[in-house]
Amino acid sequence: MTASEPRRLDFETRQIHAGEHIDSDFGARVAPIYQTAGYRFDSLDDGEARFSGRSGAQAYSRNENPTNAAAGRRLADLEGGAAGIVVGSGQAAIAATLFALAGTGDHILATDRLYEGTRQMFLNSLARQGLVVEYVPESASEEEWASRITDRTRALFTETIPNPKNDVVDLERLAGIAHRAGIPLVVDSTVATPYLCRPIEWGADIVIHSTSKWLSGHGAVLGGAIIDAGTFDWGAQPARFPQLNDEVRPGVPSFVERFGAAAFFVYLRTVTVLEYGPTVPATSTFGLLQGIETLSLRMERHTANAQAIAEYLERHPAVSSVDYPGLPSNPFHERARKYLPLGSGGIVSFDLRGGKDAAAAFLDAIELITNMTHIGDVRTLALHTGSTLHVRLTEEEKAALGITPGLIRLSVGLESARDLIADLEQALSAL
Ligand SMILES: Cc1ncc(COP(=O)(O)O)c(C=O)c1O
Repeated sequence: MTASEPRRLDFETRQIHAGEHIDSDFGARVAPIYQTAGYRFDSLDDGEARFSGRSGAQAYSRNENPTNAAAGRRLADLEGGAAGIVVGSGQAAIAATLFALAGTGDHILATDRLYEGTRQMFLNSLARQGLVVEYVPESASEEEWASRITDRTRALFTETIPNPKNDVVDLERLAGIAHRAGIPLVVDSTVATPYLCRPIEWGADIVIHSTSKWLSGHGAVLGGAIIDAGTFDWGAQPARFPQLNDEVRPGVPSFVERFGAAAFFVYLRTVTVLEYGPTVPATSTFGLLQGIETLSLRMERHTANAQAIAEYLERHPAVSSVDYPGLPSNPFHERARKYLPLGSGGIVSFDLRGGKDAAAAFLDAIELITNMTHIGDVRTLALHTGSTLHVRLTEEEKAALGITPGLIRLSVGLESARDLIADLEQALSAL
């Protein structure tokens, strides 16, 4: 920062003000819910300008409305990206990103520990569209990673803090591997949130969120977001991204020629999201915006509670292991210190010595904590992932992913740590 540059506002300020929508009609201080399908065109020329992209104004709410646009701007700011867009769910954000990057016969490389819903999408729906996702263990050598990248590889996909095992990823190393091959690094950073880690600062090119989780924070709405760093050179290897480099139609230059480093984002917004229509209702985005305004405060409490609970569980005789990188004994502790200096997130997974029977008894015994799927809720939730999220996997597949019979995932909420530990204590003593 030079003396003449203004100081960038702090995160806590930007989560409230960045990208805010200014209501010129009534001066409403909170971004209004723009619950409208369309927008009146002033003239034939205006309609044409909106449809052709010459004007930035909205044409139709399938890919954006002013409420959603405010959330996209705010998330782009918080992640340190150039632009952002919100869609109907985290899964929709992942699907839209990969559909924008890849087509039939194309290849995505992914780290092997990912949220199971994403893995199921890769296995079933993306495979049916002809997209091949290949998994590589995150710890594989650079040579191993490089040897899997082919002419058809379109992205390297990972999660900052993989759900549910919390095995923190070395983002800087993966970004180096991706960039040396000329492919973008796409990071699902749902569990970290931009308060705990900003993948773009470590080299990521596209950041994805399920905004249904901590960003909204109240467990009341679904949503997803895609943020583009705006720095990837989409024209460096034109054959890898023909949808961005080929002339759109005779006389219409390519997205790269017209938009440079923004080519991917403009394509995502004006082609992929507009055509597939994974629209999020403005009412849901209103809930998201309300949540983002208090993100830092909530994440401080989520991580402090999670840390206290992880330390308690690690000492409990009924618990054989705890997956929480905030624990000094955790193999990812050093990485967490580098990538997550403000705390290791709100998920604590732990393995019960008594296996599946003990897990069932534990879930029957909890009173304050809810047996429910979902994460990032204001309430603390417990889930036996082996019989729910991972129910479609064989025992061998579960074992390979560390999903042991006694594994419980806690999404630690905002209640008092003392009350949560008291509920855990009474439930564990029932085993
Ligand atoms: C890491 C991660 N990514 C994506 C998703 C999918 O998000 P959504 O439920 O909003 O589709 C989830 C859901 O739990 C998740 O944990």
